[in-house]
Amino acid sequence: MAGRPLSVVILAAGPGKRFKSQLAKVLIPVAGRPIIRYLVDTARALEPERVIVVVGYQAEKVKAYLGQLPGVEYVLQEKLLGTGHAFKLAVEAMLAQEADKERDILILCGDTPLLRPETLVNLAETHYREGATASVVTVMVSDPVGYGRVLRDEAGSFTRIVEDADVAPAERDIREVNAGIYCFLLADILPFIDRLTMANRQREYYLPDILFYALAAGRKVLTVKAEDSGEVQGVNNRVQLAEAEAWQRRNILRDLMLSGVTVTDPASTYVDWGVIVGQDTVLEPGTVLRGATRIGRGCVIGPWSQLEDAIVGDGCRVWVSVVEKSELAANVSVGPFSHLRPDTRLGEGAKVGNFAEIKNSTVGSGTKIPHHTYVGDADIGAAVNFGAGSVVVNYDGQWKSRTAVADGALVGCNTNLVAPVKVGEGAYTAAGSTITRDVPPGALAVARGRQENLEGWVERRRPGTVSAKRAREAGEAQRTSEVREAPGADAGAESGSHEKG
Ligand code: UD1
Ligand code: CA
Repeated sequence: MAGRPLSVVILAAGPGKRFKSQLAKVLIPVAGRPIIRYLVDTARALEPERVIVVVGYQAEKVKAYLGQLPGVEYVLQEKLLGTGHAFKLAVEAMLAQEADKERDILILCGDTPLLRPETLVNLAETHYREGATASVVTVMVSDPVGYGRVLRDEAGSFTRIVEDADVAPAERDIREVNAGIYCFLLADILPFIDRLTMANRQREYYLPDILFYALAAGRKVLTVKAEDSGEVQGVNNRVQLAEAEAWQRRNILRDLMLSGVTVTDPASTYVDWGVIVGQDTVLEPGTVLRGATRIGRGCVIGPWSQLEDAIVGDGCRVWVSVVEKSELAANVSVGPFSHLRPDTRLGEGAKVGNFAEIKNSTVGSGTKIPHHTYVGDADIGAAVNFGAGSVVVNYDGQWKSRTAVADGALVGCNTNLVAPVKVGEGAYTAAGSTITRDVPPGALAVARGRQENLEGWVERRRPGTVSAKRAREAGEAQRTSEVREAPGADAGAESGSHEKG
């Protein structure tokens, strides 16, 4: 970027009263990312000398959140006396450290998250090229209420900014407003900072008044029009929050679509800022991708799925399911109606659900956990097959313990694996077993009451019922056929039905 050295000041001390929130406005997320983070990242995109954030309301929380970001400095505004006062404190901090006043200061309000770096670059470059003392971004809006109006003389030259609270009836309908983004040549505006007063309806020091004083002193003041009102929109209440959210959501989805992701229904698809989605992946309707989610190529996500902090490999399918803080290797299928809770890792080609819940577990490649199954705190090997309704009993009411199921094992339908327990390589458990001891490799574990048939019980104990009638008829039919045919051998399988495909 051409020009002088540049520092950025972000005004973020206000509580955001109009939000009516316990949380400082600048920490409220838009598309999953706190408002202040947008501004700091946008500022840093310009590679400034310094980034100074003026904090006040919930200063410690804001600092703790931004603390993770290198190169950000803080100035504390203890009393919120207005944007002019906040700016003054930032300038004092700046001058305390360096004498170099030949620099531009870019000032941003902490509540315009959608601002693009290009707009700031344009402002700073125009400001420098034109040799201005102060420049301000203005924008045409359909509803100017809440903004400072831009006043111009008959010749159309900028004269001053009047705050919403102070606006005269004749100025009310002016649609050109102050976007709250400024560029000042520090050395030039210093004399005007001390001229600010609280002589206004809000009893605050107004930063935009600096423009008025600079102009009155014969300095060059520029207005730079932003093309797009959405980008510079302030987020002052939850109505504007929803608007900002919708705007940002459209941007995110547009970028994804242009990068090769199919979004079947953008209106019902919600993707947080920073989520990564690979080429040729399809996001079906009702898909919500949150946090640090990363999705590979060629996946089908949704319909009706929510993924939060999920890492999904190539070629996966997730439908009608919820995935939290879990990792899926390539070609995994989840759902419909499954819930992966935090710290679940599924190996390549694994298949989970219908109706399965897994938490804090690793699952090897090609393993199938298809029907009505709960797996918690378990290490499951490769090519394992869980029968319908099987449950890992990980919690005894006091302690949680781990369970291990080795490669190639088959857990019979309705098995309870009572942790801590191990099922060895290639072992089977019989359907309906409650396994409390380790099963050696290759063994069949049967842990259930043996079946006993009480012959003729229904006819004796439930006479006159439909069941008794059918039982008698069946008995008669069998006796007739036994007379005609020689008796044959028969055999019964121990384990229940399992998914093969
Ligand atoms: C401000 C402008 C207005 C402009 C609008 C654009 C002033 C006086 N008005 O109004 O002309 O149209 O932004 O969005 O500047 N802040 C502090 N310390 C304070 C007061 C505010 O750090 O003592 C911070 C706030 O946290 C906020 C920013 O400054 O991030 C702007 O304050 P806000 O109260 O939102 O100003 P607006 O009324 O929106
Ligand atoms: Ca504002």
